[in-house]
Amino acid sequence: MKIISNIKEVQEQVRSWRRERETVALVPTMGFLHEGHLSLTRIACNSASKTIVSIFVNPTQFSPDEDYEDYPRDFSRDEELCRRENVDLVFYPPVEEMYPEDFSTWVEEKDLSGRLCGRSRPHHFSGVTTVVSKLFNICLPDTAVFGQKDAQQAIIIERMVRDLNFPVNIMLGPIIREEDGLALSSRNIYLTEDQRCRALSLSRGLNNAAEAFSKGQNDAEKLKGIVLNELQEAGVSVDYVELVSRENLKPLNIVNCPALLAVAAYVGNTRLIDNCFLNE
Ligand code: PAJ
Repeated sequence: MKIISNIKEVQEQVRSWRRERETVALVPTMGFLHEGHLSLTRIACNSASKTIVSIFVNPTQFSPDEDYEDYPRDFSRDEELCRRENVDLVFYPPVEEMYPEDFSTWVEEKDLSGRLCGRSRPHHFSGVTTVVSKLFNICLPDTAVFGQKDAQQAIIIERMVRDLNFPVNIMLGPIIREEDGLALSSRNIYLTEDQRCRALSLSRGLNNAAEAFSKGQNDAEKLKGIVLNELQEAGVSVDYVELVSRENLKPLNIVNCPALLAVAAYVGNTRLIDNCFLNE
């Protein structure tokens, strides 16, 4: 497994693979890898002959009051996990390599990015679309794999790829959860035992709503109410519960098309998100 921190070197390696008719799949991550990330590397390994994992805590997607400095990092553990998953290349650039001091070009998706998480994190998705564009130009992948855990992110990337004609096939991996339902997240390590217990209200609420939907309830207010109830009972601070179209993230009154039921809530100071697709 190669570990490369230099952009030109990655491009040369991928070009050389391509000359040998290898195909390339990329899994972009911010590191501190868990089973959720690893499930994506397995999808990548099955869909191309070479797998690249990028590990880069991207400063431009954090606002000044967010946890960029404190974001968990453990490269040697990540490296070992990638080795075990038969990853071919880990791209691990320092911030200066990705963002020269006079960096001034941004990729901005202007419709979906303002919805859901975009309302409380107004600059987040332009940081994401910019860094993912850079990663696509650096790693030149045929396929890139994203997790449904960050469904809005994946939907925005799909839109960006369509709008800007990136020759990259986007794949979506399912949400990997702990046995009790908590969606795996690098940020779960911030939770105390009591907070972790209250955090279960997100997946429990979504599950209850999905079950009501499967029994015929398709009224958005009622379905959102089921999730809200759970969150309020657990005493977590709700950022949003929304039921939107899978395609354009616009709110629905009735679930009559593929839909995304998404939730964001603060448990203590930790912001958690979770979601499920309905009517797929
Ligand atoms: P990060 O939070 O490290 O997540 C990397 C990828 O892992 C994302 O596609 C995310 O959806 C996926 N993922 C996280 N938890 C998961 C889970 N429990 N089950 C399945 N997949 C999961 O998302 C980012 O990094 C960044 O925004 C990035 C795309 C790398 C751009 O900086």
